[in-house]
Amino acid sequence: MKIHRAENYQEMSRAAANMVLDQISKKNNSVLGLATGSTPIGMYEYLIELYNKGDIDFSETRTVNLDEYVGLSRDNPQSYNYFMHEKFFRHVNISKENIYIPDGADTDTEKVCKDYEKIIENIGGIDLQILGIGTDGHIGFNEPGEAFIPSTHVVTLAESTIISNKRFFDDKKDVPKKAITIGIKTIFQAKKIVLLASGSGKAAILQKALLWPITPGIPASILQLHSDCTIIGDEDALYLL
Ligand code: F6R
Repeated sequence: MKIHRAENYQEMSRAAANMVLDQISKKNNSVLGLATGSTPIGMYEYLIELYNKGDIDFSETRTVNLDEYVGLSRDNPQSYNYFMHEKFFRHVNISKENIYIPDGADTDTEKVCKDYEKIIENIGGIDLQILGIGTDGHIGFNEPGEAFIPSTHVVTLAESTIISNKRFFDDKKDVPKKAITIGIKTIFQAKKIVLLASGSGKAAILQKALLWPITPGIPASILQLHSDCTIIGDEDALYLL
């Protein structure tokens, strides 16, 4: 596992965007595994900048998002689908048919999960997976538990996740209680993984995830075993490492 110490959020975001640039330059039809949340927003901004300068072309790129809230349709401003279009997709030349995000509004969640697994398999798996980390150690929405859940599944969000994510909603009670997330095996099978972390709020969990024994109680700890995983963090997030 490599640790890239960035001076601040901007540097973290730039380093992550450069890894995406490198990936797309080597293989223009790469499958990018993408994350939402606050952490990758700066990376998306740099990628848009690179695109506007003509340095990167997403016309062949496929994207697979990590997760989506159950019960939110794609046009709901709180959905991850909406987030991705607002923060990234609508600003670059990614083809609509190359964008994959679980459908949170489909009530047949079992089928959504199965189909999503199939899609990821059919497009050849993930070349570069971008991750954030929850303060409880979740990656995607794989919450701490008794076992690592391998494939796409419905998860009941941990109370700490609901509290963290209420900042995006008018009220805590509006935060969906369930989400669809790709599983740990699917994340782990990505050829390359980049985990981004920013701010002192992530320092303690990063220390546990990277230095403590691997356990499903800290889902991100599995990344210790990955053969090509880079942690890009700013000073505040990495100060305990
Ligand atoms: C988002 C996701 C989550 C977030 C994590 C950190 O698609 O899968 O694992 O990466 O909750 O969120 P932020 O970046 O908002 O601290």
